[in-house]
Amino acid sequence: MQVGIDMGTLTGGAPAKLDIEELLATRLLVQGNSGSGKSHLLRRLLEQSAQWVQQVIIDPEGDFVTLSDKYGHVVVDGERTEAELAGIADRIRRHRVSCVLTLEGLDVEQQMRAAAAFLNGLFDADREFWFPVLVVVDEAQMFAPAVGGDVSEDARKMSLGAMTNLMCRGRKRGLAGVIATQRLAKLAKNVAAEASNFLMGRTFLDIDMARAADLLGMDRRQAEMFRDLQRGNFVALGPALSRRPLPIVIGNVETSARSSSPKLMPLPDAVADVEDLIFTPDPEEFTRPIVRRAPPAPRPTTDILAELSRSSPAVMAPVGGGEPGSPSRADMSSEEREERLAAVLAEILGDPQAAYRTDSVLYQEFLVRARMRRVSGPPMPMGEFRRRVAISRSGVDEETAASAGWATALDLSVRVSDDLQGVFLLLAKAALLSEECPSDHRIAKAYGTHSSRRARRLLGYFEEQGLVVMHTDFSGKRIVAFPDLEAETQPGDPNVVDSDVPAQSAAE
Ligand SMILES: Nc1ncnc2c1ncn2[C@@H]1O[C@H](COP(=O)(O)OP(=O)(O)O)[C@@H](O)[C@H]1O
Ligand SMILES: [Mg+2]
Repeated sequence: MQVGIDMGTLTGGAPAKLDIEELLATRLLVQGNSGSGKSHLLRRLLEQSAQWVQQVIIDPEGDFVTLSDKYGHVVVDGERTEAELAGIADRIRRHRVSCVLTLEGLDVEQQMRAAAAFLNGLFDADREFWFPVLVVVDEAQMFAPAVGGDVSEDARKMSLGAMTNLMCRGRKRGLAGVIATQRLAKLAKNVAAEASNFLMGRTFLDIDMARAADLLGMDRRQAEMFRDLQRGNFVALGPALSRRPLPIVIGNVETSARSSSPKLMPLPDAVADVEDLIFTPDPEEFTRPIVRRAPPAPRPTTDILAELSRSSPAVMAPVGGGEPGSPSRADMSSEEREERLAAVLAEILGDPQAAYRTDSVLYQEFLVRARMRRVSGPPMPMGEFRRRVAISRSGVDEETAASAGWATALDLSVRVSDDLQGVFLLLAKAALLSEECPSDHRIAKAYGTHSSRRARRLLGYFEEQGLVVMHTDFSGKRIVAFPDLEAETQPGDPNVVDSDVPAQSAAE
């Protein structure tokens, strides 16, 4: 039986058909950035095919539960034991009932385990129940991630295994995978490779575009067209769709996504120093009892803090002096306090990865460690912390730090936003000491990024602000001059790559 369901329109207005029987044999991959209209597309596909084929939807957000009213899908809440889920999946196959497995409200690891148990239940059904089922998985990169993430290895293997079974070995058992992902590069290759039909929506990142081009057998320049697609516009290719890449516009849907788009609401007036406001804890925060809601999987910071406030640990090596485990004393001298804080700061910034963490992550880490070292007094405000990080990252030595020039540089640096001060001071230091101008790579690192392009944009920004003047010598080396400091760097090659800065990771 050949059934062509109507997905929307082609340019010119003719209906865009999808051959559902062919789809069962050849599977479908939908990719497009968030907001490109993937979930809408899946909904159109599900609604149009509901009368023709049994459907199972793995739904991380609980969006598709609204299919139940109009089309009779059973809603299965994922918050159950794995055995229960497998049992339900088995009965779903026996009785040929369409269903939505909603994983809303579960944490990522639980979502992966629940989806895996359910998919495995479908897969393991007895041969006599191998009727065709469309198995739709939205946000498939969550369930079949290309690389390990924050979840346990066990959960990742389980979920990836189930997805691989679905896409690679499901066909014989009647399971036809339809998977959607916002980041093709984040989806395990073997899972993506099993789909023969593609609907490609708007895609921004080069790496996703390159993967899409490879899968579709297009050259990469051709794939550039994915960048400009409007919401709801997809390029279709594959035996169930079209033999050539074909632009289509997805049609309307009957049911609505339960999570309707958020509505705008005016914001309160902006306050100055909002980061200080949000991140600086009040002094009582650490003494308040910590409410534990669920047994935590990895030990979160709150746990460690709770432990620390319950007992003074017997052995806790302090940094920068003091007896092991010495309690925080209200009478800790300000020099002693300063010394300990400086040591904690040095410890945190000593981690090579620190350059690529955001200041707020480092700040939280700093608070925890300062607390562990029993530094007394109110916590250092976020603003001061950032300033210290900036100074420390500039690599200034003590003598320069005491100079009048440096004092001027510090004054000037407040004219740029907190996150740029580190870069500014790095350059100012090079000028004051008449060192070579730091390379793009070095500047990027001081800014916490791997992108050289961004480093150059920062320099341009300082120049626009009238803080620096850039010029190049005859050999193309860069010099950054600071009119207010009456100093300039030596010429430096912008393109050298410092060996202590890790090279850009291939994955992003
Ligand atoms: N073809 C379309 N026609 C009308 N509205 C659409 C269309 N595609 C998407 N939308 C709307 O755009 C928004 C984002 O679409 P969605 O499918 O949730 O994107 P994604 O799943 O790719 O993040 C939703 O509010 C959806 O209703
Ligand atoms: Mg979506």
